[in-house]
Amino acid sequence: MQIRFAANRPSGDHALVVPVAGTARSGLDAFGAAKAGIEAAMKRQRFDGEAGMTADHYLDSDGGRRLLLVGTGKEPKPDGAERLGGTVTARLLTSGEREAVIDLSTADFDADDAARVALGATLRAWRHDRYRTRLKDKLRPTLALITIVGAPDGAEARWSERYAPLAEGIMLTRELVAEPANIIYPESFVERVRHLTKLGVEIRVLGEAEMAKLGMGALLGVSQGSVRDAQLLVMSWNGGEAGATPTVFVGKGVTFDTGGISIKPAAGMESMKWDMGGAGAVAGAMKALAGRKAKANIVGICGLVENMPDGNAQRPGDVVTTMSGQTVEVINTDAEGRLVLCDVITWAQQEYSPKTIIDLATLTGAMVISLGHEYAGIFANDDALAASLIKAGEASGDKLWRQPLGEAYDRLIDSPIADMKNVGPREAGAVTAAQFIKRYVDDDVAWAHLDIAGMAWSDKPGPCFDKGATGYGVRLLDQYIADVVEGV
Ligand code: BES
Ligand code: MN
Ligand code: ZN
Repeated sequence: MQIRFAANRPSGDHALVVPVAGTARSGLDAFGAAKAGIEAAMKRQRFDGEAGMTADHYLDSDGGRRLLLVGTGKEPKPDGAERLGGTVTARLLTSGEREAVIDLSTADFDADDAARVALGATLRAWRHDRYRTRLKDKLRPTLALITIVGAPDGAEARWSERYAPLAEGIMLTRELVAEPANIIYPESFVERVRHLTKLGVEIRVLGEAEMAKLGMGALLGVSQGSVRDAQLLVMSWNGGEAGATPTVFVGKGVTFDTGGISIKPAAGMESMKWDMGGAGAVAGAMKALAGRKAKANIVGICGLVENMPDGNAQRPGDVVTTMSGQTVEVINTDAEGRLVLCDVITWAQQEYSPKTIIDLATLTGAMVISLGHEYAGIFANDDALAASLIKAGEASGDKLWRQPLGEAYDRLIDSPIADMKNVGPREAGAVTAAQFIKRYVDDDVAWAHLDIAGMAWSDKPGPCFDKGATGYGVRLLDQYIADVVEGV
């Protein structure tokens, strides 16, 4: 989807989009004599200007041009502008229209809102059609260009400097998440993000031999049953003060999670191709931040492994030694994400001495049971970090709800044979998973763990995504860096 900003409506064939705020109808005054007909069409379609509602009308004065009225609601919400853009795309993407013109001249939008219309429109257009060779013509996207007219000064710059790079990052995440596990595995994941070097991101990759030397026994234990080599992918963006301590993002990148020897049931197992959603979000965030030249030093680290059953796979009851020296009794090979994260976090602390670590992981089914698909859970050892992430979540739409940590939960993962076991009882499964990770976080590090299991994928379309990969987490991290590290 191409986006253009223009001062005036272009001539030529296009659908015309006019936002309508609730019951206000003054935006239609410019249609003169046609206004009454438009109002009648709205009424017939029970259109009341509520956010996300649409009504169609065909203007006979204008060669039968399609007029699309899109509701923005009586009291515009923070994400109202994005929703407007998303609604336009959803409605017109396969409509046969090639171009849409969104006329904002009567909308009460500032430059940032107008840029966010472009963001919503772009994000909603993303699809993963790579493997559909027989897609019927009628189902193919036609809409290729959206022209936004009547936007305040500065909207176009805001779009190209802030939101277009963000969209690029989100779309990279979606691509990584949507690809099947025969295409995206640890090494091919790395290849898919190598193009970030063109934006100035430094990429470093550790293979299994190096990880073995470092003593990453937990991460390598997970990888042991796979013919694919595990990879530790490190992406660095140094846009801040030279030498300033970087903020570290860590992503769970299990490119496929069969459960290992504690194998998962067959039904629905295909969804475990997106068990690298945390790593995908970290890679997408690095792309967004580098793309907009964020004034911050950031390191994104992805632990990439495949969890397979095999003659060489680790067994329930195996004891592994983590890079930290702590030992783990692997009760359930399906609780593999924490085994990956613990070694990545230990390495990150040794390598970068960060003050802040934020990890993202599709870690537990229990998190999905608690929060569904509205909020990701946030666990943190630092109230200020939790508060700023929650705030960034509200501003960006990638919402977070805080979860508890505590000594009593921690006791639940004590093991009779090793320092800890990798699972607790069935109860509070997302909390004991977080407690496990916490045992690897140094006391002086502010750490937040985001369990995004319910958010990386959606079975239903949303305002700014189709069903499938959502790209959750990219906007959150981008917003957090803007608010807290850059202070803009
Ligand atoms: N990747 C899964 C968690 C998951 C489940 C993500 C559903 C997205 C949707 C994770 O590795 C896992 O298998 N967790 C187990 C932990 C259990 C064995 C303690 C779970 O949640 O069932
Ligand atoms: Mn698992
Ligand atoms: Zn998993």
